[in-house]
Amino acid sequence: MARINENYRKLHAGYLFPEIGRRVAAVAEANPEAKIIRLGIGDVTLPLAPAVVDALRAAADEMGTADGFRGYGPDSGGYDFLLDAIREHDYASRGIEIARDEIFVSDGSKQDSGNFQEIFDTSCRVAVTDPVYPVYVDTNVMAGRTGAMQESGHYAGMLYLPATEANGFTPDPPSEPVDLVYLCSPNNPTGAVADRDNLERWVAYAREHDAVLVFDAAYDAFISDPALPRSIFEIPGARECAVEMRSFSKRAGFTGLRCAYSVVPAEASGRDASGGRVPLRQLWARRHATKFNAVPYPIQRAAEAVYSPGGRKQTGEQVAYYLENARVLREGLGEAGFTLFGGVHAPYIWMRTPTGMGSWECFDRLLGEAHVVGTPGAGFGPAGEGYIRISAFNSRENVAEAVTRIRGAFGA
Ligand code: MLT
Repeated sequence: MARINENYRKLHAGYLFPEIGRRVAAVAEANPEAKIIRLGIGDVTLPLAPAVVDALRAAADEMGTADGFRGYGPDSGGYDFLLDAIREHDYASRGIEIARDEIFVSDGSKQDSGNFQEIFDTSCRVAVTDPVYPVYVDTNVMAGRTGAMQESGHYAGMLYLPATEANGFTPDPPSEPVDLVYLCSPNNPTGAVADRDNLERWVAYAREHDAVLVFDAAYDAFISDPALPRSIFEIPGARECAVEMRSFSKRAGFTGLRCAYSVVPAEASGRDASGGRVPLRQLWARRHATKFNAVPYPIQRAAEAVYSPGGRKQTGEQVAYYLENARVLREGLGEAGFTLFGGVHAPYIWMRTPTGMGSWECFDRLLGEAHVVGTPGAGFGPAGEGYIRISAFNSRENVAEAVTRIRGAFGA
């Protein structure tokens, strides 16, 4: 008898975005004439930068030659040319030294942030923010690290840290110890960004309690203030207690190409049953080599091209375009009296629903009346109730049109 993993049955609903997709499909079917504007899932809309396309083409040509053909990639996932570009441009440029063998190239930060928990015991206590990117929670539920979903909307055994207007959506460490903490900055879904002081408190907490910080920096390219930290490793002491995920998806339009990486520093460790220290890098490398066969060579060449002078300029313009969309949303909706957060160092606007409306109700009103898709805040956790997330990933024209339609749907 093939018994199933019962933990999957604890998951209280389908994954958020397919559920939204179903509702959007139903409205689209009932209103075939409607021009639906999708500001829901954070998927990029601009075409690939020319430098990226050129690199893809050149690598494809190379693969078609006897000398240039390549089969399986390196065990760590990353070719040296990409590892060195990452080290130089993402880290050395901000005074951070990262070694090649601390970088693991993969096909996405969703996968990396979801898979990282595998190298820890199921007894580990996990802390997440609320609201939270659902992947951190669901993968720990699947692994059996929680009990059932409670009436509060929280899984038993997991510690939720409310991210609220009062704390600027960047909660401080709790007073009790936990083993694993997921942090995301710039934040999905609230668009908030953690400042240096906040991250220093988290690093101090992790060191005090021997905890590990899983720092998801998939949106770092959207930080427009150079004084704000883009990496957890800008904080002294983080190498002993943190791992970091970065992605080419949002910064360079790779949601369809797939390339990301995790940094696991040599000093970061967990404990074995007898209390001995075990380097996390060793376990993650073992997992990576067993379960993954590297991102294809042409995609890694395309990722390398993101760091070329042309690639930096072109992808920088793409990020600036989305940030300008976010400004249009913030200003247009703000002038109409909506209360908004985020969207300055992130492609997401976190909007309070009008008149205390529930977030799924607000989602349905926006979809049904304005034909605009957002993401209900409650889908990211109970503390997201009363908010809706609006993504800036779309054309300027659609974003401006969405502002008009959202105002119309609420008579604002
Ligand atoms: C989102 O909309 O939250 C993101 O697209 C999810 C992701 O990047 O996986």
